This record gives sequence, structure tokens and C-alpha cells, in this order.
Amino acid sequence: MQILAVSGSLRAGSYNTSLLRAATEAAPDGVEVELFEPAAIADLPLYDQDLDGGEVPASVEFLREAWGSADAIIFATPEYNGSVPGGLKNAIDWASRPRLEAALTNKTVAVVSASTGQFGGMWAQADLRKILGIAGARVVGDELPVTRAQERFDHEGRLVDAELFERLRLLLETVAAEAIPTAVAA
Ligand SMILES: Cc1cc2nc3c(=O)[nH]c(=O)nc-3n(C[C@H](O)[C@H](O)[C@H](O)COP(=O)(O)O)c2cc1C
Repeated sequence: MQILAVSGSLRAGSYNTSLLRAATEAAPDGVEVELFEPAAIADLPLYDQDLDGGEVPASVEFLREAWGSADAIIFATPEYNGSVPGGLKNAIDWASRPRLEAALTNKTVAVVSASTGQFGGMWAQADLRKILGIAGARVVGDELPVTRAQERFDHEGRLVDAELFERLRLLLETVAAEAIPTAVAA
């Protein structure tokens, strides 16, 4: 079972990306968590229905193939002005079309968020759950907002919070239990 880990932050020192790196180590037996390169989100053009007819841009093709072939996806989002970063929303818009065969249709997904504030990006996380559900994904697992993220990682971006590591592991277990492997779904 392969779970793709998608960060909504493009920043090199991102806490959300660091959280997903920790998730690659927290994966239960039989589960492989693979980090989706954040640059692939930056490469996407802004969603334009006129570009979404026949042949789509290569960056869109890459996104749809990578997200579509994953058995499940875990998203980690920052909160920008009370919601998800525009780049992540744009990627989800691309991955939500064409509707019936979209990369996100029936995809099992989980959502976490990390912010330097005391609410852990809970608004962004709630919005992301809503957006993914409308886009056709199956959102599973408990909410996991990581507050005061700067205190939970060392200078190399390694997670130093054992309880948070355990919560990540439990979430990945839930995702793995709920996921419908793409080989079966096809
Ligand atoms: C444009 C912008 C808007 C932000 N708005 C919020 C916000 O509404 N709520 C919040 O908790 N943090 C907010 N922050 C702080 C981010 O949560 C913080 O920078 C976080 O570390 C970003 O995630 P990252 O480390 O994965 O890049 C904002 C940061 C930026 C750059």
C-alpha cells in the first residue's frame, strides 16, 4: 500500500513538509509513505478550463498520474489568512477533473495542518477537508492540527515530539485500513 504525502507549503524549511517526512518514518508495516515533491505544485499553471480540453500541460499530466495512482493521500497544509494556500487549492482543482475519472474521485485522503500559531491551522484544515470532499475524495481520520510547530522540530526539521509521532502513526493506520488499493479500484 502506497500513501502519497502532499504538502501545501513550497518553502524549503516548511513544518508541514517536515511533518510529512516524519510520516514516512511513522508508516505502519506494509505501508509506504512517499513524499510528493512540492515543486510539482509550483509548476502547475493556474487552473483554466480552456487548458483542460484535450492534451493538458505536462505538469498537470504528472500531477494527475501521481495522485491518481496513489492508494491514498495524506495532505499537510499551512494556514494562509485563515484558509489553504492558493497553490494547493489550484492543484486540487486540476486533480478534480475530468469529474468521473479524476485523480481525486473516491480517493481516500487524510488531512493534517501545522502552523506556528496556537490553533495549528485548524481553519485551513477544515477548509481542506471540505474542498477535498467536494472534489470527490473520501476524507478519513481525526483532525490533527499541530500548534506552535516551531517547537516540535529540531534545526534539521526532524520531529522531536513523540506524542505527535504516535498520532501520525495512528492516522496512517486509519488511512491504510480505509483505503481501497488502486489495483482493486481499477
Ligand atoms: C501569507 C501568510 C499568511 C498566514 N496566515 C496564517 C493564518 O491565518 N493562521 C495561522 O495560524 N498562521 C498563518 N501564517 C503562519 C503560518 O502558519 C506559518 O508561517 C507556517 O509555518 C507556514 O507553514 P510551513 O512552515 O509549512 O511553510 C501565515 C503565514 C503566511 C506567510
